[in-house]
Amino acid sequence: MPIYNEAIENYVRKTFAVEDEILSTIRSEIPRRGLPEITVRPEEGRFLQFLVAASGARLALEIGTLGGYSGVWIARGLPTGGKLITLELSEEHAAVAADHFEMAGVTDKVEMRVGDAHELLQDLAYEGPFDFVFIDAEKEGYPAYLDWAETNLRPRGMIAGHNAFVHGAIVDSADRDPRAVAVRRFNERLADDERFISVVFPAGDGTAVAVLRKAA
Ligand SMILES: C[S@@+](CC[C@H](N)C(=O)[O-])C[C@H]1O[C@@H](n2cnc3c(N)ncnc32)[C@H](O)[C@@H]1O
Repeated sequence: MPIYNEAIENYVRKTFAVEDEILSTIRSEIPRRGLPEITVRPEEGRFLQFLVAASGARLALEIGTLGGYSGVWIARGLPTGGKLITLELSEEHAAVAADHFEMAGVTDKVEMRVGDAHELLQDLAYEGPFDFVFIDAEKEGYPAYLDWAETNLRPRGMIAGHNAFVHGAIVDSADRDPRAVAVRRFNERLADDERFISVVFPAGDGTAVAVLRKAA
């Protein structure tokens, strides 16, 4: 029997990742307003908040806002005066996220930019270095997002990539779906490149995390 099964998942969620009313409202509003139900799970959101707080991040970047659910968790891990810049391609998703950032009282910490992240990142390179980068947009883009993050993180900065297991496809090497191929490349670079100290958080769909080992 696998140890991390549904009962354990529920235990972890109820014990370590209890949503307050704001977060649970945001999670239920996302499908109600017609957006896809592809947010991080509560325990993954709590993990992001933990990483941001534990790493002392002050300037964080999220690629893939959707309705702002993970963004609220990240913002809650930032100190007073900290900032999250979050990038979203869809105007419709961004409008929902803006309402949710308002609802959560984090608009002083969160700045959303709307457009293709690959283009927005070109200008963002001048606003770094970043302390924390969370990647959760289209999976095919993960290798390029990793290249950008590596160049624009501060020494000991942290990268987190959601859907590290691609809903299970990661372990089926015959699966040549471009999303699985791209995330395999992403994970392998984090795991094999000596510039990173990496690990995977195996709850939900997996979050691969790495610290950039770079001389200060
Ligand atoms: C999985 S959802 C993000 C979920 C969100 N991080 C959460 O957990 O609440 C992915 C989002 O990335 C956006 N996206 C996809 N491709 C993008 C791109 N090239 N640039 C910016 N955003 C993109 C999608 O529109 C979608 O809203």
